[in-house]
Amino acid sequence: MKKIGIIGAMDEEVEKLIAQADITVEETVAGMRFRSGRLADTDVVIVKCGMGKVNAGICAQLLISRFSATHIINTGFAGALSPELAIGNIVVSTEAVQHDFDISALGAEKGEVITGLVAIPADRELVSSACRVIADTLPDVNVLAGRICSGDQFISDRAAKERIVADFGGLCCEMEGAAVAQVCTLNNVPFLILRAVSDSADESAGEDFNFSLFQSSVAEEFAAAIIKLVSAITE
Ligand code: ADE
Repeated sequence: MKKIGIIGAMDEEVEKLIAQADITVEETVAGMRFRSGRLADTDVVIVKCGMGKVNAGICAQLLISRFSATHIINTGFAGALSPELAIGNIVVSTEAVQHDFDISALGAEKGEVITGLVAIPADRELVSSACRVIADTLPDVNVLAGRICSGDQFISDRAAKERIVADFGGLCCEMEGAAVAQVCTLNNVPFLILRAVSDSADESAGEDFNFSLFQSSVAEEFAAAIIKLVSAITE
């Protein structure tokens, strides 16, 4: 039976989903509170993992090994890398890279986290379901599907942003998705990253990000789309 693990780094990224779920069991492991229950007639485990790739990796592995998640969705905010994205737009991951992973001095490609693999592909069915559901639920919102770049920094200056774009391209940057991608791929578990753009990863990113967190309309609509996606996922 399908059981969807939903990971967000911050309270603001999961609280609307938790509020709409029927949570029956709560358990804290590795400092993370795993809330198990039903959302849109589907078994779910919703968890806030904290920021960054290590937290996200631990969380994804626990969802798989201990909570038997069959699919994992990583949701939250992101900084825009592409000029085609504005605050409030949504990004669906087709793949994820770790922009701060670099063992090229040892002969690997920059960002090569698994031998031969820089960009880790998301599950194709989840990508197409998400694009369809978001277009139906939020017809006025700009949604782009493409590469997401993750690293352990909040990007808030143009030089850092340009370096990521030069090295990896990508639509947006955040701090967890590619770690979830790596863990899911190593465990053969389908995953998807869904992000709402909160800022443009430039000098005003900090201010824009804090403002977005309190702009409930985007977060509310985004949560509604995720709930529809959860029910649309087939085994
Ligand atoms: N999440 C949201 N905005 C971000 C940014 N600018 N850098 C990294 N992670 C983010």
